[in-house]
Amino acid sequence: MIKDLREYVEILEQEGELIRITEPVDCNLEITEIADRAIKMNGPALLFEHVKGYSIPVLMNAFGSLKRIALALGVNDINDIAKRIETILDFSPQEGILKTLSSLVSIANELKGVKAKSVKGGKCKEVILHKEATLEQFPVLKCWPLDAGKFITFPLVFTKDPETGIYNCGVYRMQVYDSTTTGMHWHIHHHGAKHYSKYVQMKKRMEVAVAIGASPAAILASVAPLPDDFYEMLFAGFLQKKSIEMVACETIDMEVPADSEIVLEGYVDPDEERIEGPFGDHTGFYSLEDNYPVFHITCITHRKNPLYLSTFVGRPPTEDCFIGKAIERIFLPLIKKQHPEIVDINMPFEGVFHNLMIVSIKKSYPGHARKTMNAIWSMGQAMFTKVIIVVDDWVNVQNVSEVAWVALNYIDPQRDCQFMQGPVETLEHATDIPYYGSKIGIDATKKIPAEGFKRPWPDPIVMDASIKDKVDSLWHTLLPLLKKPK
Ligand SMILES: Cc1cc2nc3c(=O)[nH]c(=O)nc-3n(C[C@H](O)[C@H](O)[C@H](O)COP(=O)(O)O)c2cc1C
Repeated sequence: MIKDLREYVEILEQEGELIRITEPVDCNLEITEIADRAIKMNGPALLFEHVKGYSIPVLMNAFGSLKRIALALGVNDINDIAKRIETILDFSPQEGILKTLSSLVSIANELKGVKAKSVKGGKCKEVILHKEATLEQFPVLKCWPLDAGKFITFPLVFTKDPETGIYNCGVYRMQVYDSTTTGMHWHIHHHGAKHYSKYVQMKKRMEVAVAIGASPAAILASVAPLPDDFYEMLFAGFLQKKSIEMVACETIDMEVPADSEIVLEGYVDPDEERIEGPFGDHTGFYSLEDNYPVFHITCITHRKNPLYLSTFVGRPPTEDCFIGKAIERIFLPLIKKQHPEIVDINMPFEGVFHNLMIVSIKKSYPGHARKTMNAIWSMGQAMFTKVIIVVDDWVNVQNVSEVAWVALNYIDPQRDCQFMQGPVETLEHATDIPYYGSKIGIDATKKIPAEGFKRPWPDPIVMDASIKDKVDSLWHTLLPLLKKPK
C-alpha cells in the first residue's frame, strides 16, 4: 500500500519511471508542451522542480502508463485487480445457499476494514492558512493557448448529499478566477452536480472540500465511474487494501484524506454561476465556455513543502487515456457479471472513452448484439457511448485492425445499424443541442437464419494447422532469406 503521493514519487523514481526536471519552466503552456511530448513517446512521469515564480514542484504524467498505474495500486499488472473482483463476484445463487453464503462472506471480508476512517490529525494540516489563503502560491497550469486561464486539473472534489449525508468524490477541473475563487466544472450527469442540484432546491449553501495530491488509490478511485452513493474512498480502501484516513476540515463540516498535499476548503452558493472555459479538453478539442457554479475558498491547508499534482488533457494519447484503460480493465468483470455474453471490451484512446466501445460477445440468440448495445446504453457513464460495435467472441477487440476487417465484411449497413436517442456527454459538441443526441450501434456479428438471414455465411480464411507446423519447421532457414537486404 502506498500511503501518499510523495511515497509514490519515490517508488516511481526507484523504478526508473520518473525524471526530475531542474531546468526553469513556465507553468504557462510550457509544462503542457513538455508533458505532451513525453506522454506521446511513452515517457516517464515528470517532476518539474523549478517552475518559474514558484517554490512548489509540479508532478505530471504520474499515471501516464498502465505500468505506473499498476505500481500506484501495488500490483504487478492492472488485470490482477480485475481478477480480485472476478473472484469476489464468482458466485451464482443457483450454486446453492452454502456457496452463495461463503461468497458473500468473502465479499464482506474484502470490504471489511477498508471503509474510510476518521482520524484526529493529518499531515495536510502542517500549514493552515485562513485569511492568508491564496491560490497564487501554487503553480497552477494554463494548459493550452485558447484556455480561458489557469485550471486546477487534478482536484479531488468532495461533496456531501444534504439529505443522506453520503459523501462523493469526483475529479472536476477548476478554473482559477482569482486568488480565492474558482469555477466548479462538474458535469450535470456526475454526482457532484447531483448533490449541487439538491442544495439549489433547498436554497442552501453547499460546503465543498478539494484535495490536490493524495494516495494514488484515492486519486484513481475518484475518477472511477461508481454507482450512486458508492463512496470513492471505500473503493480506494478496497484498491489499496487499507482504509483511507480522513481528517476533518478547519472551516467546513467535511473530511478529506489526511495525507493530502493541499486542501482547499470552501463553499458553492446555490444561486451563483459564472462563465467557465474554454478549456483544451480530453476530446482533443476545446470545450466551449458555459455557465458553471463558483467555488469560494475559506481556508487552505497543506503539507510542508507540498507537491502540486497536475495533468493536462488534449489530443490523445494523454495521461487520462491510461487511467480510462485501467478503469476499463478493472470494471470488465462487473460488466460481465451483469451481461455474461460479453467476452471483452475495448475503448480505443481515439474514442476518448465515450465515443467508441468495441464489444465481443458470445452470441446465442437472435438480436443478442442489440441486447448488448442497449445494456451498455443503460449502464452508468457508458450510457454516453456514441458508437458501439459488437463483434463475435473470436474477434480480438484489442486489435482495432482486426475489428475493422471483420466489421466491414460483416455488416449490411441499413440492416445492422441501430440509432438511439438519449443523453450524450457534456463535452459532446456535434449534437444540435447540448446533452441530448443520437448514438449508433453496429451489429457486426455473424447473422443467423433466426434473424432472417437465409444465405450461407463464409468462414474466415485460416491456414491448416498441419501446414503451419510444417512451415514452422522450415522457418529458421527461410527467415534469413526473407530478411536479406535487396
Ligand atoms: C484529468 C481528469 C479531468 C476530469 N475533469 C472533469 C471535469 O472537469 N468535470 C467532470 O464532470 N468530470 C471530469 N472528469 C471525469 C470524472 O472525474 C469521472 O467521470 C468521475 O467518475 C466522476 O465521478 P462522479 O460520477 O462521482 O461524479 C475528469 C477526469 C479526469 C481523469
